[in-house]
Amino acid sequence: MRKAVCPGSFDPVTNGHLDVFTRAADLADEVVVAVLINHKKAGLFTVDERMELLREVLAPYPNLVVDAFHGLLVDYCRDHGIKAIVKGLRAVSDFDYELQMAQMNYRLSGIETVFVSTNPLYSYLSSSLVKEVASFGGNVEGLVPASVLERMRSKLARPSDATG
Ligand code: PNS
Repeated sequence: MRKAVCPGSFDPVTNGHLDVFTRAADLADEVVVAVLINHKKAGLFTVDERMELLREVLAPYPNLVVDAFHGLLVDYCRDHGIKAIVKGLRAVSDFDYELQMAQMNYRLSGIETVFVSTNPLYSYLSSSLVKEVASFGGNVEGLVPASVLERMRSKLARPSDATG
């Protein structure tokens, strides 16, 4: 079985991520959407909440599964028999850092990184921007899945719920 991983923070998952996941799902038998556990960075959603939202959103796709990881991505890939990392490239501005990570991951483990070109509809989209716009009452409908929109609205209405 050919397994790939789409790693990220996904705080929260956006429609841009979803586009990359579904396209990755056509390239491998199984794609793990792996949420980084980062104790140093507080998020709007906890890792468990992010995974729950991802599971809801990915329910229609049988070969997209959700997991979490900490430490090096290449170690997670080795431990889970994953042969490729799939990332979306939104714009040239993503390229420098993504190339650096791809080269480091290859140097560390020989794992390949495959880039898919993000749908131009979502090229400006990021989780941080969505959170910022939503936190000031802006409309992010259509940029995140409906279940995420609903959870964001209730969380932002109760700011004490925001956790790491
Ligand atoms: O959604 P993000 O926060 O941009 O995702 C970044 C992520 C999780 C893909 C990257 O930070 C990562 O792979 N972190 C795991 C630690 C690691 O392997 N670091 C070395 C990268 S070369």
